[in-house]
Amino acid sequence: MIKPDGVENGHIGAILNHISQAGFRIIAMKYTRLTPETAGQFYAIHKERPFYQDLVSYMSSGPIVAAILEKENAVEEFRSLIGATDPSKAAPGTIRNLYAKSIEANAVHGSDSNENAAIEGSFFFSMLERF
Ligand code: CMP
Repeated sequence: MIKPDGVENGHIGAILNHISQAGFRIIAMKYTRLTPETAGQFYAIHKERPFYQDLVSYMSSGPIVAAILEKENAVEEFRSLIGATDPSKAAPGTIRNLYAKSIEANAVHGSDSNENAAIEGSFFFSMLERF
């Protein structure tokens, strides 16, 4: 997902280019917006964390781009492409190092396991929208 700051700051094209240059295939993609309810559901796993309410409010503050990406070993490869959650700790050349501003407005989200990738993909897309 490209988060509200990535969209707001005009980085959609650069981020998608970065992703496709790294060899990911886009299986499905959607420009949309989360409500506080749907953002809360998406991040339900973090419900007990102190930053949850801020995260939900931030993630519903503007449009986002959701995508399903395909590549061998995609979860691990994508996480190394985007860099650390905190952009000040993200390695040079990673998406968060290049485009993110803070730990909350960190430009992109990537699934942390194959299981969560399936859950998160289904959250945004039905089978009919994939190919
Ligand atoms: P993301 O990979 O989308 O998963 C959960 C998000 O919570 C994370 O990126 C951050 O944007 C956000 N977040 C905000 N504060 C923190 C924090 N202190 N530690 C981890 N994640 C945080």
